[in-house]
Amino acid sequence: MASKIIILVLHIFIFSESLPARAQTLIKVGYWDSGDGFPISDVNFALFTHLMCGFADVNSTTYELSLSPSDEEQFSNFTDTVKIKNPSITTLLSIGGGNNPNYSTYSSMSASSSSRKSFIDSSIKIARLYGFQGLDLSWNSANTSRDKYNIGILFKEWRAAVDLEARNNSSQSQLILTAKVAHSPLSTAAAYPVDSIRQYLNWVHVMTTGYSKPTWTNFTGAHAALYDPNSVSNTEYGITEWIEEGLSADKLVLCLPFYGFAWTLVKPEDNGIGAAATGPALYDDGLVTYKEIKNHIKNYGPNVRVMYNSTYVVNYCSIGKIWFGFDDVEAVRVKVSYAKEKKLRGYYVWEVSYDHYWMLSRAAAEEDNKNRQNKRLLWAIVLPITAACILLIGFLLYYFCWMKTLKLKAKASKDSANSQADAGDFNRTDPDLREYSLADIEAATDRLSIENKLGEGGYGPVYKGVLPDGQIIAVKKLSKTSTQGFEEFKNEVMLTAKLQHLNLIRVLGFCIDTQEHMLIYEYMPKRSLDYFLFGMCLTA
Ligand SMILES: *[C@@H]1O[C@H](CO)[C@@H](O)[C@H](O)[C@H]1NC(C)=O
Ligand SMILES: *[C@@H]1O[C@H](CO)[C@@H](O)[C@H](O)[C@H]1NC(C)=O
Ligand SMILES: *[C@@H]1O[C@H](CO)[C@@H](O)[C@H](O)[C@H]1NC(C)=O
Ligand SMILES: *[C@@H]1O[C@H](CO)[C@@H](O)[C@H](O)[C@H]1NC(C)=O
Ligand SMILES: *[C@@H]1O[C@H](CO)[C@@H](O)[C@H](O)[C@H]1NC(C)=O
Ligand SMILES: *[C@@H]1O[C@H](CO)[C@@H](O)[C@H](O)[C@H]1NC(C)=O
Ligand SMILES: *[C@@H]1O[C@H](CO)[C@@H](O)[C@H](O)[C@H]1NC(C)=O
Ligand SMILES: *[C@@H]1O[C@H](CO)[C@@H](O)[C@H](O)[C@H]1NC(C)=O
Repeated sequence: MASKIIILVLHIFIFSESLPARAQTLIKVGYWDSGDGFPISDVNFALFTHLMCGFADVNSTTYELSLSPSDEEQFSNFTDTVKIKNPSITTLLSIGGGNNPNYSTYSSMSASSSSRKSFIDSSIKIARLYGFQGLDLSWNSANTSRDKYNIGILFKEWRAAVDLEARNNSSQSQLILTAKVAHSPLSTAAAYPVDSIRQYLNWVHVMTTGYSKPTWTNFTGAHAALYDPNSVSNTEYGITEWIEEGLSADKLVLCLPFYGFAWTLVKPEDNGIGAAATGPALYDDGLVTYKEIKNHIKNYGPNVRVMYNSTYVVNYCSIGKIWFGFDDVEAVRVKVSYAKEKKLRGYYVWEVSYDHYWMLSRAAAEEDNKNRQNKRLLWAIVLPITAACILLIGFLLYYFCWMKTLKLKAKASKDSANSQADAGDFNRTDPDLREYSLADIEAATDRLSIENKLGEGGYGPVYKGVLPDGQIIAVKKLSKTSTQGFEEFKNEVMLTAKLQHLNLIRVLGFCIDTQEHMLIYEYMPKRSLDYFLFGMCLTA
């Protein structure tokens, strides 16, 4: 019983050791774009698990992967630079990217098996040449069912090729394959070969952003809304669609846009979410990086208040006629905890250089850690207490059982004085037996005289005697001449002495002569002596 409890406790301990490790860890992907002029060496490498090197393109005539000469120079040492700072980061080469890749080039590349092969073989070659561990197709979407079908085939052939390539060289692990996809597989003209993605890609970067961009007026301000009560253009809707279409949550990586949009308000005083605007501000497309927004806010002084709306999960502020909608620290935290709650694979940052002193990257990583630390803390407190309680209960149960057994044993031994001796008595040390000489015995018993004979038992006569020190003894002479040697007899006497019960008569020693084997007992008052000596069974 008690041992079972202890085993259970041990199981819980061993099992719990693995609990924090098994808790979900988000991958933290950072997109880096050579076009930003932000050196890769300036990235805070503690905040990411994967870095995407962007962007390679596809040559419109050869369909091979192509890098501009300046990109080639930077990309060639991208992985080395990253690994020197943090060897645990995985690097991938991203293809297509944010600079509106030429739709028709990707469409025709995927349309024939020879152009797909050109693309695939060249992509693997470049990845290996520069030490990238994976490839990412960042071509936004196929907008016809034919293109959708072809992209599905491309993913299948790509996987087969990297599989074969890895098998060819056992010292290299297989390249990771990923893609960037729209926020939902259905809600836009873009349609995705979900089955093919599920089978052949490691994961997808879901563009859960840019929802209100196409409508410059009547914007919701929620270009990256996690929830939107008035529209299907929101992250929760898109993620649910992907999962319903058959892609498991652990293949989905959530976008954390490190940019927002700037709008010109119709009336500066009407500046809540959904306020009327005349169009984009600052830039043609209204797109502003987080870094720029923070600098604007700083330049306009301490009166600017950044608001947070938890219905949409978005931050906003207005400076004069300009209204900014973006994800600040609050929105980023909520999105990371959403990714954990939904058991998504992780999040990706678009793009690392848009951050302002790593505020958002750090908030995201901290939110991920915080959840895990809380879990660890919980286990660190709950487990020892539970274990201690179980151990205590186990100990008490064991103690009571033990006490009960002891009482039962004591009772049993009282009940039958002549019961077999306890097995435990075998463990006593050898009794202090004396070997008497025949002369000693003859002197004590007056040469085994008939006067001193007490009686005759089953195994021989018993005599009374007095040793020189006054000790009264009983001598049992084993009648049958034994064939046993000295050692065997002695061992037998030892065993008999060990077996004797406290309540029984004490064996003092033995005497061995050429023909005589004798046992020497303490002499006891008549009744009990007869009882024991004539009743006791001794083999000779
Ligand atoms: C595409 O490849 C061809 C042949 O190698 C080359 O002549 C051409 O300049 C390349 N196009 C671009 C845009 O790099
Ligand atoms: C990587 O290449 C760039 C451009 O050539 C160079 O400035 C930089 O020092 C190189 N970094 C390393 C680590 O080799
Ligand atoms: C896109 O590529 C096609 C050839 O695939 C070319 O004809 C077209 O001019 C390109 N468009 C742009 C905007 O570069
Ligand atoms: C697909 O997108 C391309 C580029 O955005 C466009 O030229 C083409 O007309 C679109 N096709 C359909 C069927 O929407
Ligand atoms: C595999 O290795 C052989 C010989 O080294 C080479 O000829 C072949 O192209 C390789 N295949 C792939 C897919 O890398
Ligand atoms: C196998 O991979 C290792 C490590 O990348 C490389 O050094 C070696 O040249 C490769 N061997 C072949 C036959 O491709
Ligand atoms: C924009 O909002 C105004 C009032 O809020 C409304 O009258 C107008 O119809 C809306 N325009 C569009 C294009 O939704
Ligand atoms: C968020 O903004 C919307 C639109 O202005 C508003 O209806 C809603 O109450 C706001 N949510 C919170 C929590 O303030």
